[in-house]
Amino acid sequence: MGSGIAQVTSLGGSDVTLIDTDEGALERALAAIRSSLDRFVAKEKTSAEDAEAALGRITTATGLEAAAGAEIAVEAVFERLPVKQEVFRTLSAVCAPETVLATNTSAIPITEIAAAATHPERVVGTHFFSPVPMMRLCELVRGLHTGDEALAKARAFAEAAGKTCVVVNRDVAGFATTRLICAFVNEAARLVEDGVISAEDLDTACRLGFGHPMGPLATADLTGIDVITHATENIYEDTADPKFFPPAMLRRLVAAGEIGRKSGKGFFDYEGLSTGLWTTERRGPRPAPLRMRPSSR
Ligand SMILES: NC(=O)c1ccc[n+]([C@@H]2O[C@H](COP(=O)([O-])OP(=O)(O)OC[C@H]3O[C@@H](n4cnc5c(N)ncnc54)[C@H](O)[C@@H]3O)[C@@H](O)[C@H]2O)c1
Repeated sequence: MGSGIAQVTSLGGSDVTLIDTDEGALERALAAIRSSLDRFVAKEKTSAEDAEAALGRITTATGLEAAAGAEIAVEAVFERLPVKQEVFRTLSAVCAPETVLATNTSAIPITEIAAAATHPERVVGTHFFSPVPMMRLCELVRGLHTGDEALAKARAFAEAAGKTCVVVNRDVAGFATTRLICAFVNEAARLVEDGVISAEDLDTACRLGFGHPMGPLATADLTGIDVITHATENIYEDTADPKFFPPAMLRRLVAAGEIGRKSGKGFFDYEGLSTGLWTTERRGPRPAPLRMRPSSR
């Protein structure tokens, strides 16, 4: 996500510093940006000169001190609260008080991340979608303390990167889009695990009946079943709403490492497509299993 956000921001004309603690990740990010820009040039969506200039505006660094002087810092590290909070603590020390601190979290409440920052009124959610260069939406999310100025600056930033913004006015778990996709995938998985309909037919029904470009199960495979499961766990933890309790099928697929395209198998098979991206080291240890509790609603 970080490389995609860097790409669209630099194409929009801004200087970007892409920061990752892992040098290998930075090399992979630059290679991904190059190959994405090449595809844009081949399809005549971007000129070769603009692509070259965009690449020239991106520098890389392994330490967050490189964010000093930034107008906006967009965090896109692992989806784990302590990791994000540590980044926000450091950014608060490194950046000027007026620097907007944005998070690309999919489901963690912005207010919880902002609790680690100084001046929480400058913390805002900028939820981009994958693949960032292709997907036009940016979901802006207000934390409890997010100020109008930070929201306006985040909107200007996303729009300069070619995105259309929607605003989530209350910091509810999963915001609007993650809540929707989790509810949709959970119900789809329940229908399949109850034997009501096959995975293939369920996705066909959504494509042909609702006009969705992809069914929810293929979407889960593309996003990563581990990512969806983790997101719905976060929403369930926050809301105690049983519809967000991850169905057994999702939890078993994650336990088996069948997490979608990146592992070669999920709801569907993707033989030969595995990127081997998922490892416990990258995602951290799995949290203790959730227990179902009565809904507070
Ligand atoms: N992948 C998606 O489809 C998607 C979509 C929308 C939002 N998101 C959110 O975006 C964020 C990133 O997701 P991703 O899929 O790109 O994750 P990823 O695991 O591919 O990349 C995260 C990167 O953060 C780096 N990192 C970890 N800790 C760091 C630190 N302290 N300082 C600097 N770099 C650090 C890691 O080395 C890694 O390269 C998550 O919050 C995720 O929920 C992901």
